Amino acid sequence: MIKLDRVTKVYPGGTEAVREASFEVEKGEICVLLGPSGCGKTTTMKMINLLIHITAGKIYIDGVDNTKIDEDELRRNIGYAIQDIGLFPHMTVRQNIETVPVLKGWTKAERAKRVETLLELVGMGSGEFIDKYPSELSGGQRQRVGVARALGADPPILLMDEPFGAIDPITRARLQDEFLKIQREIKKTVVFVTHDIHEAIKMGDKIALMNEGELVQYDTPANLLYRPKNGFVEKFVGADRALKGLQLIRVKEFMWGFPPTVKTDETAQAARQRMKREGINQMVVVGEGRKFLGWVEWADLEKGKMVSEIMKPSSDVATVDTVLNEALSIMLSTRLNNLAIVNEDNRLEGMLSFDAIRKALSETAQRGESE
Ligand SMILES: Nc1ncnc2c1ncn2[C@@H]1O[C@H](COP(=O)(O)OP(=O)(O)O)[C@@H](O)[C@H]1O
Ligand SMILES: [Mg+2]
Repeated sequence: MIKLDRVTKVYPGGTEAVREASFEVEKGEICVLLGPSGCGKTTTMKMINLLIHITAGKIYIDGVDNTKIDEDELRRNIGYAIQDIGLFPHMTVRQNIETVPVLKGWTKAERAKRVETLLELVGMGSGEFIDKYPSELSGGQRQRVGVARALGADPPILLMDEPFGAIDPITRARLQDEFLKIQREIKKTVVFVTHDIHEAIKMGDKIALMNEGELVQYDTPANLLYRPKNGFVEKFVGADRALKGLQLIRVKEFMWGFPPTVKTDETAQAARQRMKREGINQMVVVGEGRKFLGWVEWADLEKGKMVSEIMKPSSDVATVDTVLNEALSIMLSTRLNNLAIVNEDNRLEGMLSFDAIRKALSETAQRGESE
């Protein structure tokens, strides 16, 4: 889909920003360009849509040399999302999202439908945002609109330069999850720039690790972690590889599906029997339709007659697609040894125990040693 063949960029002042970089991004994959500040990530990305001209080498898009494609045409077919200054401040959310559709001559009705679909896709479909200006939105909302705008005319390729860079870690993790979920449906070919190894491991099907203008290793996240090509990779990836390996594992692989539960209108005695039978000291409390409500703990069983009296309400949850290190940090913040796994409607899908995470940790550590 995108192929770089010994691509070099020398800036007018003589800085060699990228030196003979060669790699290929498969259709439908997310390729992350990773590396320390100034290593040439943005330059590499901008040569793909010709925002920066190539000094030597070639970039092929679907087999076609990109310098042979009309630049405006090329950019209309490549979505582009960047940190901060992505949105036009004097335009509403709607106007921002339909920028490229307008350039492409879509009808008003087609555009309206597309804007609606995209806002829905990024979780802002309620109608309250469509006529707002970027300054009236939160940082996370702006980033979502940025992604929606990049997807405006349904381009096959997306370039994203630190798209979730300037936001707090929790919102950032949420945006990453949302984007991965969207990507499962839309299957774009994505080039994603970041300097953050955690983000790269989480987002990338492949990672291109760069250093001082050179491509050092182009590989899967697992290979980058467990088979670093040289000392630079090893150092960049960090010493705590096993812990980082938790980011390669999603909750669904280690959770307990269909765990025992108890309802608020059941007795503490019923809860006791079930917990004893299952050998657990914390059990999920659910309401109508298996909606997650909280926990009942073994130590509290004497404190009341009904589950409703002794339960601890909770809203700390993860989903089947949460990565284990995030699940671990949520769990650590709750004081419980378990985490409820729910779907979008807060219906219980499983339960993740601290022991399961420990098991995953030892497995990734062993994997690291044996390979
Ligand atoms: N327009 C420019 N003119 C001259 N040098 C530049 C320009 N843009 C970037 N550089 C230099 O090229 C190198 C790579 O920059 P960049 O691609 O922005 O790195 P990254 O995105 O990895 O931080 C850096 O040394 C940077 O200072
Ligand atoms: Mg950059």
